[in-house]
Amino acid sequence: MSNTTNCRVCNGTVGEFFDFGRQPLSDAFVEPGADPAQEFFYRLAVGVCGSCAMVQLMEEVPRDRMFHEAYPYHSSGSAVMRAHFEELAKRLLTTELAREDPFVVELGCNDGVMLKALADAGVRHLGVEPSGGVADVAALKGVRVRKSFFEEQTAREILAEDGPADVIYAANTLCHIPYMGSILAGVKALLHPGGVFVFEDPYLGDIIARTSFDQIYDEHFFFFSASSVRAMAAAHGLELVDVERLPVHGGEVRYTLAHAGARTPSDAVAALVAEERAAAIDDPATLRAFGERVLRIRTDLVALLRRLREEGSVVVGYGATAKSATVTNFCGIDTDLVAYVCDSTPAKIGRLTPGAHLPVREPAAFAAPYPDYALLFAWNHADEIMAKEQAFRDAGGRWIRYVPDVHVV
Ligand code: SAM
Ligand code: TMP
Ligand code: ZN
Repeated sequence: MSNTTNCRVCNGTVGEFFDFGRQPLSDAFVEPGADPAQEFFYRLAVGVCGSCAMVQLMEEVPRDRMFHEAYPYHSSGSAVMRAHFEELAKRLLTTELAREDPFVVELGCNDGVMLKALADAGVRHLGVEPSGGVADVAALKGVRVRKSFFEEQTAREILAEDGPADVIYAANTLCHIPYMGSILAGVKALLHPGGVFVFEDPYLGDIIARTSFDQIYDEHFFFFSASSVRAMAAAHGLELVDVERLPVHGGEVRYTLAHAGARTPSDAVAALVAEERAAAIDDPATLRAFGERVLRIRTDLVALLRRLREEGSVVVGYGATAKSATVTNFCGIDTDLVAYVCDSTPAKIGRLTPGAHLPVREPAAFAAPYPDYALLFAWNHADEIMAKEQAFRDAGGRWIRYVPDVHVV
């Protein structure tokens, strides 16, 4: 009999469709020489709810293990993402925030990359960010931050102190939060009657279409679609009123929710729901077929890396992403196959990747000397990275990609 659990949105039955086995925390970079027995592992498996079609993890990692003082991810690490958030801030200023004394709340503001632009424009704002280290970076930029997890109680406290929010925004954060009932109750309470809750996260449709299985790791608890978000919103007195597909992070959707009945849903909502239905993206058969493609990628990637090792080629990783924890640990990639990984994040450099224990080195190490092949773990930043590292290609280096399938470019 297959494994089941209860849906974190509607309490229906979630049926498992893929098991990645034992995995470490994707952002828990290890100090060299640390006691291996101290490393935390959990079972990474993913399923779909038979009632509301929400795709979600089968097991939850306690939030304090993932989001704390030493959380290493800094949103400002990508120039493309900086531009993405600045563009959104600009757009909000001329639309939802173009009213008297607007107030915006961001969940998971991280290092303040988005709110800084609104703070500079003099907009009343608050970032809610539980990871202390990145919250401090935001505060240093002049962003007003509250160091806590957003949930219903936090929302009620913010409402009492600051009044209702015209915009509540969350990027790459809502999908990280299993306690969705508390979040949406909080949003419902804090949101101004005419306000909007805007959030953007990796899109299930893109994950299925591209077989981007490495989007699945401890922090990504939910894999949203327009259909599942619409049902989730409706259960909490909210309504999905707009969707916008985004090219960032390998394909995302920006969802806009309003109080139920407050706005007329755009045609884009019905169109995306229809597209999802036609592609049957949340059908168990579709999801099982996705799992078969994941197994194929593992077989092909390991075969390629072994062949390159036998040929005497040097392979290094590029981008010690959270996503790469799933790839390296699921595929059993160790230093025999990938010598080290280059990454620009200060908190990752000098440490070992979770589970697989590949050394993380500074970006300058990439060129000293260039490897023969680079395994592009940060494939969601491919254009930015491949342009920046053009000299690697010019020197005869080749990139290894594994989404949507294993290929060398
Ligand atoms: N918004 C940024 C971006 O898109 O680059 C940061 C995304 S980062 C992957 C996820 C962030 O969500 C982390 O900084 C984490 O601390 C924060 N987070 C996790 N649970 C949260 C919660 N309950 N309330 C607010 N933030 C949360
Ligand atoms: P992400 O896929 O979660 O955004 O993580 C990207 C990782 O890749 C992050 O650790 C920073 C790193 N990175 C580089 O090392 N160089 C780069 O040019 C970019 C864009 C990211
Ligand atoms: Zn459900």
